[in-house]
Amino acid sequence: MEYLGKTKIIKIDPEKPDEAYLQEAAAILRRGGLVAFPTETVYGLGAAVTHPQAIQRVYAVKGRPADNPLIVHLDSFRRLPAVAAGIPPAARRLAEKFWPGPLTMVLPKKTTVPEEVSAGLPTVAVRVPAHSVALRLLQLAGVPVAAPSANLSGRPSPTRGSHVAEDLDGLVEMILDAGPTGVGVESTVLDLTEETPRILRPGGVTREMLEEVFGFGGVEEADPVAMESGRPVAPGMKYRHYAPKAPLYLVVGEPARVNRYIADRLAEDGKTRRKPAVLAYEEDRDYYRGVLFFSLGEREKPEEAAERLFSLLRACDEAGAELIYAVAPSRTGLGRAVFNRLWKAAGGNVVEVG
Ligand code: TXA
Ligand code: MG
Repeated sequence: MEYLGKTKIIKIDPEKPDEAYLQEAAAILRRGGLVAFPTETVYGLGAAVTHPQAIQRVYAVKGRPADNPLIVHLDSFRRLPAVAAGIPPAARRLAEKFWPGPLTMVLPKKTTVPEEVSAGLPTVAVRVPAHSVALRLLQLAGVPVAAPSANLSGRPSPTRGSHVAEDLDGLVEMILDAGPTGVGVESTVLDLTEETPRILRPGGVTREMLEEVFGFGGVEEADPVAMESGRPVAPGMKYRHYAPKAPLYLVVGEPARVNRYIADRLAEDGKTRRKPAVLAYEEDRDYYRGVLFFSLGEREKPEEAAERLFSLLRACDEAGAELIYAVAPSRTGLGRAVFNRLWKAAGGNVVEVG
């Protein structure tokens, strides 16, 4: 469709979404235009799978590598046969338990789903988002909607309407701004095409939650470190991602040692005159008096770090940080997804202090 370069930014109340705006957004999607919309994880940049040119535009607008496939969003499990060629019993069980919600399933792709969506793979990634605006939009659009996170490729994912506008204003037809997203990190990507289910990207539905379904040890997990060299299973995982402009150092280890390490480094860095910022837990604050400090919330509440992580990475840029130290979360529960995003943002700058 013709696009004149003006983006309609609509504030929408997630408690009481304005139907007229959602109708308008759905019509844009059906015509082959692009609409950014909120989900419970991060904002998505939607295009109808029935419009391959719209899908191509999603890649162009984001500057996304062509080999990184998109997640298809549905309004309910009932629509799954429209995009998946086979639905294993596990998919049904998972959908009952976790949909709508932050779980993406990788399944055999129906040939009717355009190549562009799956970047040439024989599989398709699908989820039903748990957000009133997303669900109503998908219902009204009446077609499956492919939607990557609504950020420029490589930037932190957007968890606020303002993040989307920062990256995409003037590039898409409409942005539906319904405020903060909630979970804050993207969905878990789970491959169901092999015998044993395999987590390709940790996210809102944790490994522990999946083990309640498949039993302890019943779920494999792709090792993000191995993915750096070998063939990436979730193609998106091989790129430096979620990255603020400043280099980020992720410091892993026992909290007191991590904090002492960072505090020492800050004292040394003082000589280089690069402006540092620290991402650490509320409990760590005392180590960083007089330093630009961004709180990940309470250490025992990983959902707080998840909710604000991407927003804080953008805030580091805004504050003009030239160097960032981040305290690594523990790799359990939702902390695993937060660790993974920080690890990606660090792009190899990971320090283990034991
Ligand atoms: O929470 C989310 O998943 C958000 C919201 C908008 O739904 N979406 C999102 O999309 O994070 P995106 O494009 O930023 O990340 C999609 C991830 C990438 O790592 C991609 O490689 C992987 O899913 N993926 C997509 N299709 C796949 C497939 N067929 N096989 C394996 N991985 C796939
Ligand atoms: Mg993304």
